Amino acid sequence: MSKKSRDLPRRSCLSVPGSSERFLQKGPTINADMTFLDLEDSVAPLEKVDARAKVVDAIRNLDWGDRVMCVRVNAWDTKWTYGDVIEVVGNSGDRLDEIMMPKVERAADVIAMDLLLTQIEKNSGLEVGHIGIEAQIETAQGLINVEEICAASKRLETIVFGPADFAASMEMPVLTGGVQISEYPGDHFHYVFSKILMAGRANGLQVIDGPYLKIKELDNLRDYCNRTRTLGYDGKWALHPDQVTVINEIYSPTQEQFDKAWAIIDAYKEATETDRKGAVMFGDEMIDEASRKMAIKFISRGERAGLKRSS
Ligand code: GLV
Ligand code: MG
Repeated sequence: MSKKSRDLPRRSCLSVPGSSERFLQKGPTINADMTFLDLEDSVAPLEKVDARAKVVDAIRNLDWGDRVMCVRVNAWDTKWTYGDVIEVVGNSGDRLDEIMMPKVERAADVIAMDLLLTQIEKNSGLEVGHIGIEAQIETAQGLINVEEICAASKRLETIVFGPADFAASMEMPVLTGGVQISEYPGDHFHYVFSKILMAGRANGLQVIDGPYLKIKELDNLRDYCNRTRTLGYDGKWALHPDQVTVINEIYSPTQEQFDKAWAIIDAYKEATETDRKGAVMFGDEMIDEASRKMAIKFISRGERAGLKRSS
């Protein structure tokens, strides 16, 4: 696991096609918390091999600031995975934080990647464990095995839902993945969101929602972000700079929430350490250890979003 990237924010996770020099050049100018250079589905099969060198060049020579830097490689059921990993991890240097694995179906998929990464790290002068793993759950089999997948390796940093491939895998009668289906009475992905979230949290991972494909529909994106944000997700993919702005806002606490969280921490500390009480009144509500745990999450998220406590 790369300690540096494990705790960095991933409110917005920007997808950049690895075969496009134009998009690669533009990537660093977009204010996303995490950026992944893609070798998988946004790259045509005939461009896949050439895209590897473009991605390595972009990681080494562009200034990506302090964002989490990731490359999505092709899935194990293709012919490209080992070549992607050896070329990209072997040549990118330590600015590369992690590899994203699409269509993960079982713990063994992650374990195989972990073993391959260890050998490449040893041969290329990287600290063993430097490269983290993001695992995408986007097939029926992957969802069934999500609990063992989340526990498969110390390198895992996030678990990510892939709504488009998942809709295809489930044979849902939709032609656009990751958007609302008005005919369905509720959220057709509610079970999926919750199952992935529980498995991720049980293993200390960040949990990320995938793309919203209707790029121009920013109000609907906002609505959709609020669903997973309310459940507890850390962030969502972005396919366009306008999406990044909406996503960064929704996955950050407000100043009011941030200040209240700090006030709860202070009141709870006073109660437990000075007054030796485990539960006390805070305004009109009772707070206890569970309140402290909730408050800590708001504070760490707020700090990651650059908030400072109001004076
Ligand atoms: C992302 O990879 C998706 O399939 O939604
Ligand atoms: Mg996918």
